[in-house]
Amino acid sequence: MPAANALKCSPSTAVTEDNSSPIRLPAWAALQQHARRLDGTAIEALFAQDPDRPRALALEHDGLYADFSKQLIDGAVRDALLALADQSGLAQGVEALFGGHHVNFTEDRPALHMALRGGAAVPAGDAAKLAESTQRMRAFVRELRAGRLLGASGEPIRDVVNLGIGGSDLGPRMVCEALAGRQDGPLRVHFVANIDPQELDETLPRCRPESTLFILSSKSFTTLETLANARAARAWLEAGLGAGADTGLHFAAVSNQEAQAGAFGIAAQRVFSVPAWVGGRFSVWSAVGLPALIALGEEGFDALLGGARSVDEHFRDAPPARNLPVMLALTGIWNGNFLGIGDFAALPYAHGLRSFPTWLQQLEMESNGKRCLLDGSRAEFHTAPVVFGHAGTVGQHAFHQLLYQGTRRVAIDFIVPVLGADERSRALYENALAQSEALMRGRDLHTSRTQLRAQGLPVAEVERLAPHLVCDGNQPSTTLLLPDLSPHTLGQLLALYEHKTFVQGWIWGINSFDQYGVELGKEMARSLADPQGQPTHASTAALLAAIARLRS
Ligand code: F6P
Repeated sequence: MPAANALKCSPSTAVTEDNSSPIRLPAWAALQQHARRLDGTAIEALFAQDPDRPRALALEHDGLYADFSKQLIDGAVRDALLALADQSGLAQGVEALFGGHHVNFTEDRPALHMALRGGAAVPAGDAAKLAESTQRMRAFVRELRAGRLLGASGEPIRDVVNLGIGGSDLGPRMVCEALAGRQDGPLRVHFVANIDPQELDETLPRCRPESTLFILSSKSFTTLETLANARAARAWLEAGLGAGADTGLHFAAVSNQEAQAGAFGIAAQRVFSVPAWVGGRFSVWSAVGLPALIALGEEGFDALLGGARSVDEHFRDAPPARNLPVMLALTGIWNGNFLGIGDFAALPYAHGLRSFPTWLQQLEMESNGKRCLLDGSRAEFHTAPVVFGHAGTVGQHAFHQLLYQGTRRVAIDFIVPVLGADERSRALYENALAQSEALMRGRDLHTSRTQLRAQGLPVAEVERLAPHLVCDGNQPSTTLLLPDLSPHTLGQLLALYEHKTFVQGWIWGINSFDQYGVELGKEMARSLADPQGQPTHASTAALLAAIARLRS
């Protein structure tokens, strides 16, 4: 946020008003001028201007290597972006974030997910409760992993089913997928999020009531999908274990609504709390990460926390020009706010990171998919882009055609763990590098003609086809290399994007930590579900009538 309207907040009070939009900052106008200056400039041309460009625009931290050289950025643009961060008072914002100030200014609370991994101090008033819940949770997991946690019929638990959605699903699900090879012990972890009965129905046959534990994961303990699935799970247990069985032995809860969890029948010692200052999309480090703790064990989960802490320290200490989260954020702002690129693709070249794009969608689009600024005014500029992606190389055979020859420019982050040494692993990262280069360089008409002539086609055919082979190129990308896909590097990766998200929201002057928009959809769904209620709109009434006909 603009330094002129510096964040006026303290650990106990919310941010006050008077933050103007970033477009009034001098750096914003300078960046608009740079965008005009570079209009029509090919990214590749910047390499000719500076042979040292690949090294000059690479940043490294703790094994991570980020190559920004395929962004349409030169020294002057980088300096102007850094000036924008400075004029936005970013340094003050980082201190406010880590200092536990109420950066979540609408809900009047801090955002201290970093405190869960030792990257910031836990608020003194919460330290004892968090420590008690964490120790109790870890003892519970040790019992579970040792086969000493027994169900109602005396059998040890063998399957764990996480019932949660959004931040109560995406983080732990992705961590368990990414680190599947590192899971040890006899336990199997499953995830069910959707209220569509099919997801739970597909999972239950793989489990036995006698040896299954359900984790009811819901910070609010009000989420329709999760509670509906929990009731269905309990019915399955009752059917399988017989009337009167203590189904409470087959549940644990992750929530900060302990009373509601108790009312559902979950014993207090199995309710693990999530502090109010941990947002759902930032919560994998908290008790929400319980499935990952179960799958990885304490050593693996602590390594995940350690990787994130490493990035916390980097984010706090590294100068902005050498700061990976800051530069990820600033290149995103450059592409979105100055080059008019409204779409952003996150392409992880690892099967284990196949759910990373969906996790990132919630992180970036639920955090920064907003238009209301701190001072209540409406943004006169774009905020979060549409985020999409899929694991490479699969995405290459699905949507990369649009990246090559579509009418939209798309900014891309290639996320490339350098995995095994066999030919397929090598081909995986070679494809990532090839895609980033091909999307930057494109294929002009002359090259298209040459390729067609080389196939021996007659001239008329060459002329007919050549325009269809042209790829404009100039799709900007960042390539992030990870030394491997381990708990440490996965923790680094997630923290990188958490802090990128914070930096962008700070500069845009929005609150990255609330989500009032999705509440509207939930309210509409609740009113529709009310048997006494009436359809709220003619289109809805007509659709309900059509559904009734289809179902009849
Ligand atoms: O999507 C809205 C949201 O509130 C997310 O922010 C959150 O991660 C998800 O729903 C689940 O919420 P809860 O953990 O309270 O069930």
